[in-house]
Amino acid sequence: MQNVASHILSDRIMALSESQTIAMAKKGRELAAQGFDIINLSFGEPDFQTPQYIKDAAKQAIDEGFTFYTPVPGFPALRQAIADKFKRDNNLDYAPENIVVSTGAKQSIANAVMCLVNPGDEVIVFSPYWVSYEEIVKLAEGTPVPLQGRLENDFKVTPEQLESAITSNTKLVMYSSPCNPTGSVFDEQELLALAKVLEKHPQVYVIADEIYEYINFGGKHASMASFDFIKDRVITVNGFSKGYAMTGWRVGYIAAHKDIAAACDKMQSQITSGTCSIAQKAAHAALLGGNESALEMRDAYRRRRDLVLEIMQGIPGFKTNVPNGAFYIFPDVSHYFGKSYNGQIISSALDLSLYLLTDAHVALVSGEAFGAPQCIRFSYATSDDKLIEALRRIKESLAKLQ
Ligand SMILES: Cc1ncc(COP(=O)(O)O)c(C=O)c1O
Repeated sequence: MQNVASHILSDRIMALSESQTIAMAKKGRELAAQGFDIINLSFGEPDFQTPQYIKDAAKQAIDEGFTFYTPVPGFPALRQAIADKFKRDNNLDYAPENIVVSTGAKQSIANAVMCLVNPGDEVIVFSPYWVSYEEIVKLAEGTPVPLQGRLENDFKVTPEQLESAITSNTKLVMYSSPCNPTGSVFDEQELLALAKVLEKHPQVYVIADEIYEYINFGGKHASMASFDFIKDRVITVNGFSKGYAMTGWRVGYIAAHKDIAAACDKMQSQITSGTCSIAQKAAHAALLGGNESALEMRDAYRRRRDLVLEIMQGIPGFKTNVPNGAFYIFPDVSHYFGKSYNGQIISSALDLSLYLLTDAHVALVSGEAFGAPQCIRFSYATSDDKLIEALRRIKESLAKLQ
């Protein structure tokens, strides 16, 4: 078959980057298919199975014939259960009309950005950021404005930084907490200080991505929407992928002012309609079952975080924060830039991650895609044995660099 010439494809798709996390996972799988023993620490997903009671609810939904289109923003009982979850976990009052269920939190974010951003609007993205934020903003013809959190400050953006980044063109601020890729978690006071800055700029909206809410090793989860003076301008994103180990089911959601929710409903109605009816029933059961299974998984991630941190202390040249949530660690590896092995010079995090893939057979994701070209992301959502072996191999490969 002939290749489709690039001039046939739209400028929109030509300007879009492939997701680096997905690209690295693909490379790792290719090498594994060639027979190499690859340890894949590039995945952004839990290694746990979806809890059985959730799977059972999906089976029941099929048996009961729940196989038709649902309303676009989700079936009513699920939207109500999500509103109840916001009350139970976050002390936030929402009605079903504020909730839109989508095909993963990724679609929730895309809907919200498409509904809020006009061409040329600036979107402040706290950096390091999740890979898709920038690309989604670009799809909406907005201008992403990365705002760099420093490692010394746990990668967190400060209120002063936020204030100085806001211009008359700023429309939106986006961040995740707990954060992918840094594992940083904003506490209530830190969010309040940021919200106070935004209070002075009423044209600025916020996408608060809380998808790792249940994977928080510190105190209580804090939500930007909990501050009444800004609540109507906050779109809280959450979902089932991470907390309930349901990545493949594709269920995410937003809570937002009813006009924004209605706009997202309209956007979604022309693109995908409601997400899979069976997955919605599974998500409903997940919420009714509480968050106990999620908290058990969190405890496993915390143990692994401690294990990885301890081993990393013995790897020369890796500088990291102490991640307080999610399941990633994001060391600064710039110590190795300029070094080489067998004539192969490492001049970037991408070079180093490719070297570690080919020499140590460990797949990681380099920081360029997260707005931090001096770092590499490790996902520790895998077994202790694999983590120990991966870090042993990495240490050995790094020691060869001169
Ligand atoms: C910060 C963040 N937001 C959103 C998502 C998307 O999640 P979902 O699987 O619900 O689309 C991810 C997935 O990696 C993520 O890390």
